[in-house]
Amino acid sequence: MPEKRIVLSKCGIVDPGDISSYLRQGGFKAFLKARDELTQEGIVDEIKRSGLTGRGGAGFSCGLKWELAGKSRSKEKYLICNADEGEVGTFKDRYILMHDPFGLIEGMCIAGLAVGAGVGYIYLRAEYHSLLELLSNAIEQVRRKGYLKHMDLRVFEGAGAYICGEESALMNSLEGLRGESRYKPPFPPTQGLWEKPTVINNVETLMNIPHIITNGADWFSAMGSPRSKGTKVFCVSGDVARPGVYELLMGSSMRELVMDLAGAQDVKAVQIGGATGSILPGGRLDISLSHETYLGSGAVVVFNGSRDIIDIVYKDMLFLHEESCGKCTPCRDGMEAMVEIYGRLINGQADPEDIRILEDLAQTMSLASLCGLGQAAPVPVLDSLKYFHDEYDAIIRQSVYVRGRASVL
Ligand SMILES: Cc1cc2nc3c(=O)[nH]c(=O)nc-3n(C[C@H](O)[C@H](O)[C@H](O)COP(=O)(O)O)c2cc1C
Repeated sequence: MPEKRIVLSKCGIVDPGDISSYLRQGGFKAFLKARDELTQEGIVDEIKRSGLTGRGGAGFSCGLKWELAGKSRSKEKYLICNADEGEVGTFKDRYILMHDPFGLIEGMCIAGLAVGAGVGYIYLRAEYHSLLELLSNAIEQVRRKGYLKHMDLRVFEGAGAYICGEESALMNSLEGLRGESRYKPPFPPTQGLWEKPTVINNVETLMNIPHIITNGADWFSAMGSPRSKGTKVFCVSGDVARPGVYELLMGSSMRELVMDLAGAQDVKAVQIGGATGSILPGGRLDISLSHETYLGSGAVVVFNGSRDIIDIVYKDMLFLHEESCGKCTPCRDGMEAMVEIYGRLINGQADPEDIRILEDLAQTMSLASLCGLGQAAPVPVLDSLKYFHDEYDAIIRQSVYVRGRASVL
């Protein structure tokens, strides 16, 4: 199955530093159609009917969010593009921003109309500092063309923390507070930035908007699987011959992505969706990729037969422990305990009881953590226990044997 390029259709074709090149490729026609031919409700309705879902990980209906915020009578409303992209193995948003900043800005201009937002922010990952000038320059060119009369659009440099990609921590960071998750509800469309209605969308989500307005909701909803419409941009890395960014129809198979397109040959496991993502064995490559199955942010890291699964999960846990904001106990103390147990496993000091504790911890964290970080942190732990139990058994047998020998000596 070849790639289906919609979101990436202008990448490598337009000059990211010159709006006239984007205009020659049909740029801003969707914005003019939305502004001059559709009502605010009409735009929202089109996006709702298209079935577009969030591409930042959670997969929530884009149109529904827009509708909630759009209906609010508040005079102050905000639009935020989440370009924090801190998820391990994810680099699609950077690719999009580098190659087609005008596509994103057009999507935001339309979103601003639909929601009635007077101010829009692009929350840019701190490590993407080199893109700041490119984005600011693109915004200035759009402003000079007169397409930003309804909304002031600004770039805000992120705080350099993974948690600041989580929407409520992101808003705290924008407000100058510590990057910590907020209690929900209220959700951003009713009470977000500075307690005003706020729509937060991922870069890739917003990139779809001009295409839907141009081609119509029916065109978009005819592509993909029942609950996942359109395409998805994946970032493939690890043990593959051709790492990179690939756009496929929702519902395409993992095998097509990692074997046919990225050229993997020996696949022991794949991790889908970053450090909190599922880990599947190489024997399960025929799964389809969609919200119904596995998707997350679109990161796919491939591991060959030489890789140690327990070490991979240990590295995930180290990262999440470092990045936990520490506000809620299940995540703060749970991550600490996970790292300790994996440390014992790696150092040959674990015992069978540790596996039971891991499973208990996983359940508590997923049920009781405040945000997606702590809730999803146990996913790679539970998947690796399910599919690679023999590796845990072997390491524990070895630990028990070594301890037994030590006590005899
Ligand atoms: C720990 C954590 C990190 C996240 N990082 C990002 C991110 O870098 N970019 C992103 O778009 N969404 C991220 N999200 C998801 C956002 O909270 C939110 O769901 C998303 O920005 C909404 O946009 P969408 O509906 O267009 O996907 C993260 C979530 C969690 C729990």
